[in-house]
Amino acid sequence: MRTIIEPFRIKMTEALPMTTRARRAERLAAAHYNLFLLDADDVTIDLLTDSGTGAMSDRQWAAMMQGDESYAGSRSWRRFEATVRDITGFTHIFPTHQGRAAERILAATRLKPSDIVPNNSHFDTTRANIEYVGGRAIDLPSPKSRDIHSDERFKGDMDLGALARLIEREGARAIPFCMITATNNAGGGQPVSLRNMREAKALLAAHGIPLVLDACRFAENAYFIQQWEEGQAERPLLDIAREMFSLCDGATMSAKKDGLANIGGFLACNDDRWAEEFRNLLILTEGFPTYGGLAGRDLEAIAVGLMEALEEEYQRYRHATVDYLASRLIARGVPIVRPAGGHAVFLDAAGFCPHLSPADFPGVGLVDALYLEGGVRGVELGSVMFGRRETDGTETPAPRELVRLAFPRRVYTQSHFDYVIETIETVFADRAAIPPYRILWQAPFLRHFTARFAPG
Ligand code: F0G
Repeated sequence: MRTIIEPFRIKMTEALPMTTRARRAERLAAAHYNLFLLDADDVTIDLLTDSGTGAMSDRQWAAMMQGDESYAGSRSWRRFEATVRDITGFTHIFPTHQGRAAERILAATRLKPSDIVPNNSHFDTTRANIEYVGGRAIDLPSPKSRDIHSDERFKGDMDLGALARLIEREGARAIPFCMITATNNAGGGQPVSLRNMREAKALLAAHGIPLVLDACRFAENAYFIQQWEEGQAERPLLDIAREMFSLCDGATMSAKKDGLANIGGFLACNDDRWAEEFRNLLILTEGFPTYGGLAGRDLEAIAVGLMEALEEEYQRYRHATVDYLASRLIARGVPIVRPAGGHAVFLDAAGFCPHLSPADFPGVGLVDALYLEGGVRGVELGSVMFGRRETDGTETPAPRELVRLAFPRRVYTQSHFDYVIETIETVFADRAAIPPYRILWQAPFLRHFTARFAPG
């Protein structure tokens, strides 16, 4: 069959908020033109993030009913630990309330001020946790990723030449660990190849530097490997995932992505000394090591979700959904990051709005226009999120002006995406009308969450 269908049917529904254009215009102004400040009840199709926004399966809900809420040594913990070990092979596994809690424990226990942590691209919470303890988070994306419009594969790879030069220049002792983020969210949701991971591991091992996987979207990455990488087509996703983890000495995970859960995460490693320090800080900040900030029922939902994320049918449908939106936008001439990523389509706001410069924040104009037109919420990944206001008041722009339309897992159907396509098409036809925006107020850090804007 050519038609790839959603591999589930719907047993429970949640009404979509339907709004009028007049209402959206009024809510947008009240939110100071910042979509983070909207009530979700005013959003019809919410593509703000794929994190914690997925729909759980009947098997997950059934497992939740069996949650064992014992403080120590609960049955749910055993189930969670066994599943995570089955997939990752790690000796030590610590549940955390979400991904950034795992990152915080890793950074706080392993880093001294001025230590360096390279990554293909750090996600913003990973970078913030490293910098919070005085470390230096360095991005080494593959040169392939520079041209956002090329269809090259594995643009999420790490630049291993740059990694070798960094180790040479700074010395292995300045690099307590290296990270790889799969898929590479900050780089457009692009995957990392097994080959790149194997070569990175060999290079790092020669210098005694451990490798830690940011595994949030490990299952989506495994599917790209199966589809694209030579010699991988016949391997089950679980097998590929196991090899990805086997190349690493530890992992941080947000179960809000490929755990198919609404909350949760974990930190894992093989080294006993690392584990002892992780455990001590975990008890202080997250909870006892057999629940780590989660309820027993959350551990159950994650244990089931991690395995569901590795089902072929599920990944085939998931990638087909992203491709569906991407291919239709490409056919209409809408500029997007290519190839389509695993969890999102990234619009090129600079290409979409050639009449605007980075100082006009074209990503804000575009997300606001999509909201106004169809009640669709995306997120700006451009000069608001990654640019900076200097002390003299001038703006340093980001290298790219993107808008991310992230796909919650198992939530929206094909007709919802047809609606999104029509919304984008309509905005694209009238794109010259997208106004520039100014920042009226901003916080000193992570300004995108709370900034207030005005058009014109
Ligand atoms: N690493 C990556 C690659 C991520 O994308 C995220 C979260 C995290 C770590 C942190 O995990 O949210 O559970 O603390 N990304 C979300 C997003 C928020 O919208 O892309 P968390």
